[in-house]
Amino acid sequence: MDWLEEAWRAAANKVARIAERIGTGFPHASVNGTYALEAPHWWTAGFWPGMLWQLYEGTGNGRFRVLAEGCEDRLDEVLHRYEKLDHDMGFMWTLTSIASYRLTGSENSRRRALQAANYLAGRFNLKGRYIRAWNPWSEGEDNSGIAIIDCCMNMPLLHWATKESGDPRYAHVAAAHMETVLDHFVRPDGSVYHIVQFDSATGERIQALGGQGYAPESAWSRGTAWAIYGLALSYHHTGQRRFLDAAKRVAHFFLSQLPEDSVPHWDFRLPPEATKYRDSSAGACAASGLLLIADQVGEREADSYRKAAERILESLYRNYGDWENPEQEGLILHGTGHYPEGKNVDVPLIYGDFFFVEGLARLRGTNTIFWQ
Ligand code: GLY
Repeated sequence: MDWLEEAWRAAANKVARIAERIGTGFPHASVNGTYALEAPHWWTAGFWPGMLWQLYEGTGNGRFRVLAEGCEDRLDEVLHRYEKLDHDMGFMWTLTSIASYRLTGSENSRRRALQAANYLAGRFNLKGRYIRAWNPWSEGEDNSGIAIIDCCMNMPLLHWATKESGDPRYAHVAAAHMETVLDHFVRPDGSVYHIVQFDSATGERIQALGGQGYAPESAWSRGTAWAIYGLALSYHHTGQRRFLDAAKRVAHFFLSQLPEDSVPHWDFRLPPEATKYRDSSAGACAASGLLLIADQVGEREADSYRKAAERILESLYRNYGDWENPEQEGLILHGTGHYPEGKNVDVPLIYGDFFFVEGLARLRGTNTIFWQ
């Protein structure tokens, strides 16, 4: 892999450059070349510090650590004073406080991550055996029955809390939620639903919704990637074979749908007249999941997952990477945030950048992977 070290250096150099402006901000989507900064409660708040921690560990550049710690401090206002914390606490505190605790041993970070895990476990609906995704977006809205595929990636926070505290309740909640994912989200052909709505009083499934995908029965590619990686992580944390089997089934569907350059369109089931933008972030996230599957299967089987991930990451580096252009802060071009709402379409996305860097770190084999 002659490109790997070159790509790692290019990413580290670019992040060092854009860190001068972004500092301890919370970038989400790069619009017209500049990362828009979000409020710290937005679900994407962990990705910039998570990328800084990956690059700190891989380069030793202390500036990355200082900024990542600054982002984590800023998240305290969310942890302590924001009444609308939702299920994405896993994304947010895995890549900040767990990362910090594992790399520096900070007791304050450990306490923050345990607190976030308690909030997350508190969203479990016992009747439906799912973790509630969101809080009402508008006055009077009842979304207490909504669960979404993205939540697979929030489960590592719960497994970490069980390992750290010795209390199995967190892992029980995570396993129960992921069993619901197997029962209600993963289709027989390996594609997945984005949103499933349950009756929050009885636990009965009501319907599937299209969410960020094209339609309820389409196949949103980033949701597919969340499922691949989340299911592979569930196998890693529980040792339960059905999670690995499902991760492989979803991975096979994902790989079967890739175009020539190995970077997915934003949805795999678009009608001919629909605009076929790519979602590079789905490719980057799936690559990490494929590499984790490769680590968990026998060597002969592992090769095809590893090679598929390498193809995606190399294509992202060569065909989608923006390394020299001073007018662009994003690392990886052509992500699609929310096509149905027309938000952040065909732009760099911070989670695409994060998972690209994490994928490189996995291939280099020397870094801590914060979800594991
Ligand atoms: N979790 C929201 C998204 O993937 O866009």
